[in-house]
Amino acid sequence: MAESENSTQSSYKRLKPKEFLKISAWILKFVYRINPKFASLYTGATILKRLSDIVNTVIMAQLVDSLVKAVQSKAFPLETVYYYLALIFGFNLIQTILELTTTWSWNSLSVTGRPGLRREFYKKINSLGIQTLEQPEINNHIHRADMYLGDIFNYLDRTIEMIASLVRFVALTIIISSFFPLFIPVVIGSAIPYFIFDKKQRSNLYKFINENTENQRKAGNTAGDLASSTYLQEIHLTQAFDFLDRKFWGFHDWYTKAWIKILTKWRVGISSLSVLSDLVIIICTAKVFTDAFQQLISVGTLLFRYRILNQFQDSIQSIFRGSNDLSEQAIRIFDVYYIFNATPAFPEGNTPLEKLEQGPAIELRNISFKYPNAESLVVENLSLKIKSGEKIAIVGPNGAGKTTIVKLICKLYRVTKGKILINNGDLADIYVVDWHKNLGVLFQDYNTYSQLTVKENIVIGNSDKPVNEDELVAASKHADAYDFIDKFPFKFDQVLGEKYKNGIRPSTGQWQKLAIARFFYRNAPLVIFDEPTASIDAVSEYNIFNKIYEFFENKTVIIISHRFSTVRNADRIIVLKDGQITEEGSHSELMKKNGQYAQAFLLQAEGYATEKIDTLSM
Ligand SMILES: Nc1ncnc2c1ncn2[C@@H]1O[C@H](COP(=O)(O)OP(=O)(O)OP(=O)(O)O)[C@@H](O)[C@H]1O
Ligand SMILES: [Mg+2]
Repeated sequence: MAESENSTQSSYKRLKPKEFLKISAWILKFVYRINPKFASLYTGATILKRLSDIVNTVIMAQLVDSLVKAVQSKAFPLETVYYYLALIFGFNLIQTILELTTTWSWNSLSVTGRPGLRREFYKKINSLGIQTLEQPEINNHIHRADMYLGDIFNYLDRTIEMIASLVRFVALTIIISSFFPLFIPVVIGSAIPYFIFDKKQRSNLYKFINENTENQRKAGNTAGDLASSTYLQEIHLTQAFDFLDRKFWGFHDWYTKAWIKILTKWRVGISSLSVLSDLVIIICTAKVFTDAFQQLISVGTLLFRYRILNQFQDSIQSIFRGSNDLSEQAIRIFDVYYIFNATPAFPEGNTPLEKLEQGPAIELRNISFKYPNAESLVVENLSLKIKSGEKIAIVGPNGAGKTTIVKLICKLYRVTKGKILINNGDLADIYVVDWHKNLGVLFQDYNTYSQLTVKENIVIGNSDKPVNEDELVAASKHADAYDFIDKFPFKFDQVLGEKYKNGIRPSTGQWQKLAIARFFYRNAPLVIFDEPTASIDAVSEYNIFNKIYEFFENKTVIIISHRFSTVRNADRIIVLKDGQITEEGSHSELMKKNGQYAQAFLLQAEGYATEKIDTLSM
C-alpha cells in the first residue's frame, strides 16, 4: 500500500534485558520522585492485597476441615466455628481497608501525578533547543512520547502486580511442591507457547505503529487544519476540503484496516493457546479429585489444593502476560525515556553574562552555517562587525539568509564554521539563558497570545519584573498601539481572542503593533526586529521606526526589512544575497555606489511613484 511505502522508517527498538531493566528502574524512580507518598502507599497496599488470596484459602480450608470433623464426630465446638467466623470477618475488614487504600492512593497518584508529568515533559522539551527540536526523528519520538506519557503510571501498576505475582508464585510453588511437584513444570510448559506468540504479536503491532508515526503526524496535522477556524477560511475559499479530507481518511482507512488485521491474528492466536493451558489444568485437577475419592486427603485439603492449583495457573499466566505487558510498555515508554534523556544539539555554554547596560558589540567571524536537515550551506564564510550601540539594517531577497543570521546570533543554532563574538567573548561559551536575557527579538512568526489580555501580551516581554504601568503605556505609545487599545471595550484588560467571553480579534497590523510594544517594553540591550512592520500602515511604520532609533539609543539594533524607506536611517545597511554580504554602507553611500541596493531602492521608489500617479489619474 502506498501509505506504508511512503512512511519514514522510524528506528524501531527491540529492548535488550539490560535496557529493559534500566528503563524500568528509570520509570519507577521517576514516578516515585513525582509523588513519593502515594506511590509507596499504592505499592505496599497492592502487594498485601495480592498475597491475601493465599491467606484466605488457608482460612477457608481450615474452616471446612473443622466443620467436616465436627459433623463426623457429632460434637459441635461452637468456639471453633466462632473463631473462624471472627477470623473471616477480620480478614474481610483488612481486605476492605486494603481495597480502599489502593483505590484512593491510585486515584490520588494519577490525579496529582499526570499534570506533574506533563509539566516535566514540556520543561524538558523546552530545554532541548530549537536545533534539536527540528530533527524529524526527535519529532517522531515526541509524538509517541506524548501518546504514551500516561503509560508511566500504568507501568508502576504493572510492575507492582508483577512483583506481587512473583511473590505469590514463590509461595504457591513451595505449597504445591509438598503434594504435586510435577504440576509446576507442566503448567509452566503449557503456558510457554502462549507467552512466545503473545510477545511476537505485540512487537509486530508496535513495529507497525512505529513505522507509521510520521504519516500519523501528517494525518493528525491535516485533521487539525480541517478543524481550525483560522485555516478553514482559506480551505473553504479554495475548496480544498475534499483534497485534505482524502489525505486524512486515505491514511486512516488503510491504517485501521492493517491494524485490525494484526490485532485479529494476535487475539485469535492467544485464545487458542490458552485453551491448551486450560486442558492441562483440567487433567491435573482430575488427579487431586482422585486422591480425595481414595480418601487420601480431607475435604478441606481437597478444597485447599484445588484452589491453590488454580491460583498457581493464574499466577503463571499473570507473570507471563505481565512480563509481555511490561516489555511492550517499556518499548513504548522508551520514547518518553529517550526524550527525557535527550541532550541539546550543542552545549548551552557555562560562562555567565550579566544583563548589559550598553548594547553589545557583535562580530561574526568567517561564519558558515547549514541547517541540520539541509544539504547545502545557507551562510558561507560571512564576516561582519557591529559596534556597540550601532543601528544596522539587513536587506536582501527572500531566502538570502537574513533570519538565519539572526537565529545564529540568538544562539538558537550553532554556527557550522567560524565564530560569533559578543563583546569579544565567544558566544559558544556564553550561558544561553544569560544571553537570552540580553535579547529582544521580534521574529516574522511572532506569537499572538489570544487567550491573554492586551496588557499580558505586552508585559510578557519582561515577565520577570513586576508590571510597570508607566512603561507599559509608553511601550504601547511607541508601537503606535495606544490609540486602538484605548478604543477596545476593556482597554488594556481586553482579551484578544474572539472565541473567548468578551474577547475581540485584533487585525493583523494591530497584532504586529502589540508584538512591537512587547519589545519596547522588554527594552533589551540587543534589539532585533525581523520585518516588524510588514503589515503596518505607512504612517505608523514611519512613527515606529523613528521611535526605534530614538528609544534604543544606546542599544545595539538590527532591523531586517524589505521596505527600503524604513531602513534608510540606519547607521549601516548590509545587503545580503545567497548567504553572503554583497554590499554595505550608509544609505547615501550605497546610493552613490549605484549597485544592487540603489537599483532595488529606485525600483521600489518608482513603484510608489507610479502608484501615486495612478491614484492621481483616477
Ligand atoms: N529550519 C530550516 N531548515 C532547513 N532550511 C531552512 C530552515 N530555515 C530556513 N531554511 C532555508 O535557509 C534559507 C535562508 O532562509 P532565511 O529564513 O534565513 O531567509 P530570509 O533571508 O530571512 O528570507 P525572507 O526574506 O523570506 O524572510 C532558505 O533557503 C530556507 O529555505
Ligand atoms: Mg526572514
